[in-house]
Amino acid sequence: METRLVKADGAAVEETAELLRSGGIAAVPTETVYGLAANAYDVEAVRSVFRAKGRPQDNPLILHICSTEMLYDIAESVRPLALTLAENFWPGPLTMIFPRKPHVPAETCGGLDTAAVRMPRSSFTLALIEKCGFPIAAPSANTSGLPSPTSAVHVYDDMNGKIPLIIDGGECRFGVESTVVCFENDDTVRILRPGAVTPEMLREYCHVVIDSGVLQKLDADAKVISPGMKYKHYSPAAEVYILKGSDEDVVGFIKSRNMNKIGFLGNGNEELPDNTVRFPYGVTPEEQAENLFASLRDADAAGCAEVYVRMPRTEGIGLAVYNRLLRSAGFRIIDAGVSDALQK
Ligand code: TXA
Ligand code: MG
Repeated sequence: METRLVKADGAAVEETAELLRSGGIAAVPTETVYGLAANAYDVEAVRSVFRAKGRPQDNPLILHICSTEMLYDIAESVRPLALTLAENFWPGPLTMIFPRKPHVPAETCGGLDTAAVRMPRSSFTLALIEKCGFPIAAPSANTSGLPSPTSAVHVYDDMNGKIPLIIDGGECRFGVESTVVCFENDDTVRILRPGAVTPEMLREYCHVVIDSGVLQKLDADAKVISPGMKYKHYSPAAEVYILKGSDEDVVGFIKSRNMNKIGFLGNGNEELPDNTVRFPYGVTPEEQAENLFASLRDADAAGCAEVYVRMPRTEGIGLAVYNRLLRSAGFRIIDAGVSDALQK
């Protein structure tokens, strides 16, 4: 199959809407990461999305909407707190989980009796949903297990030959996927996946519980609310490690690694040896969110067998960075201040 890359403009809205209406799929930009879009109510189209990604059938998709009316078409009931959060964070990177109406296909929702819903901020994708008139199911547009795509080229690298159309809307603003929450009761949400809508921001409106799966490794047979939590995720081919410690200790550790080519994501102050390639990361949680996935992909392209990433700060969107990085690294954290830190 030929895969076309098309600029996100008015004509592309028409073309993509036509494709989705006829049961096709296409990659589209959002403010978080690129999504692989299908008519959420078309079971065959949704199956094509799972196939193109190689995604496990029990991992449900997010339904993207453009109006509150669409939310009521999907959700059996909507708590007042959900409306408050929608008013304050939609369109934007917040996904909320609702009991679903029977007409919403079980396939879209991974067999669960709930549906995850969000209103994206990208003007292209909002216009597309409006034009289609149905909610768009869209997981991140990467091959399952790889880092999520934050540019159209990332999507092309994973989906070339597998989907007919990629809409290029430039680089995604946030760089990590939306915050996913479910409701504990009328005034408490549980964060299942952290994102750009931070615990601090949500606490303005309600109590916030951070699910233990956000920062802890789950057993393979653990019962989870969000199936996505249990899968290997965001991993490039390179072995990724999180590095804790001072600039000095970190540099000392890197020098002790005897390898041809090491990838490194740090703050820019580290004086690295010649065998080490630095990739963009940054210092603020916002910069790190924007750069993380792209840099992990670039480290693979550069042929680094190991990539070391400085421990992020966990405030704000930093919690999302740490959540993704822990999974990329298979939860391996090295304390560079301890001699003999990496024994293998
Ligand atoms: O920012 C985003 O959310 C991006 C863009 C494209 O919108 N989408 C995205 O989708 O990240 P995906 O499929 O890669 O991640 C969806 C996450 C998964 O962890 C999934 O398990 C969870 O949301 N999820 C979806 N429906 C759910 C449900 N009904 N109950 C619990 N978790 C759900
Ligand atoms: Mg994903």
